[in-house]
Amino acid sequence: MAVNKVPRKYIWPDSDRPNAADHKQPILHVTMPNLNLPIIDFSQLLGPDRSQVLKSLSIACEQFGFFQVVNHGITNDVINNMIDVSTRFFALPFEERSKYMSSDMTAPVRYGTSFNQNKDSVFCWRDFLKLMCHPLSEHLPHWPSSPTDWRTLAASYAKETKYLFMRLVEAILESLGVWGATMNSGGGGDNDEILKPFEDGSQLMVVNYYPACPEPDLTLGMPPHSDYGFLTLLLQDEVQGLQIQHQDKWVTVQPIPNSFVVNVGDHLEIISNGRYKSVLHRVLVNSVKSRISVASLHSLPLDSIIRPLQALIDKANPRRYKDTDFSSFLDYISSCEPKRKNFLESRK
Ligand code: SIN
Ligand code: FE2
Repeated sequence: MAVNKVPRKYIWPDSDRPNAADHKQPILHVTMPNLNLPIIDFSQLLGPDRSQVLKSLSIACEQFGFFQVVNHGITNDVINNMIDVSTRFFALPFEERSKYMSSDMTAPVRYGTSFNQNKDSVFCWRDFLKLMCHPLSEHLPHWPSSPTDWRTLAASYAKETKYLFMRLVEAILESLGVWGATMNSGGGGDNDEILKPFEDGSQLMVVNYYPACPEPDLTLGMPPHSDYGFLTLLLQDEVQGLQIQHQDKWVTVQPIPNSFVVNVGDHLEIISNGRYKSVLHRVLVNSVKSRISVASLHSLPLDSIIRPLQALIDKANPRRYKDTDFSSFLDYISSCEPKRKNFLESRK
């Protein structure tokens, strides 16, 4: 049902609204041009220019915490099918979508609005479907059976993004100079050993639907947050909405068709001992067009202890983070929903 006013539940306090002036930085984000994120041409990682690309990757992770990947090898068909089937999912009657509603934040399949409609004091202008993807054979039978091609199309998208994630992990570890070091000792391991926790780690697919909003200045699609996990691979349609914090301002990421926006998550910031940055980002909505995005969040296994790599700690770079694990994250989250802000600040 179309509404012409934002219901009270979705209205954010003045200080959290999209155009709120930051008291430290009185420049409104709306005066900023869109941000062209550093672009990583994935196909060149496999060629003679690998070391040059690794350098750009390293600069992107240090200075932006974000980059866009083009020529990544995932076909336009797989991408377009994923956006298309997601659009059809959110167009299903509410009775069909609501079969997957759950208040359990750890449910393997969860449909909802905001982050957690049973708890949030202010709602986000967003509906979502969250699917656990790893191991795929275990979760697939629980995924939505409608639209009828959902499982096939979303599974092929999940497999392809996992493959791309693994290749990006190799590149990122190489760019940090730790390729060949084991995650816990920081020295001497072989490459298969270092990749194993990433291969075994969790993959959560979050499909977001942001309807057009009659009063977009009063609400948010998603409040500022950093991503828990190692890397997030985000697919967005042609509608802009994602903003990242860059040099103390909110800047809009210009979508590039068929590319992925990739961002450093909290695990990677910790493991790199702060060299790579897990940056705050948020989502704005608009009055004209709905927007779909698909985030694939890749984390180390839920029982792992996350700590800085020994190889990246020395006199000039003392250890900057405490050991942490998934349960500390859940404790943090439940203490501050829906304004998740910055988990990392609590880990220093
Ligand atoms: C997210 O931060 O997980 C979603 C971003 C987006 O929808 O652009
Ligand atoms: Fe995010």
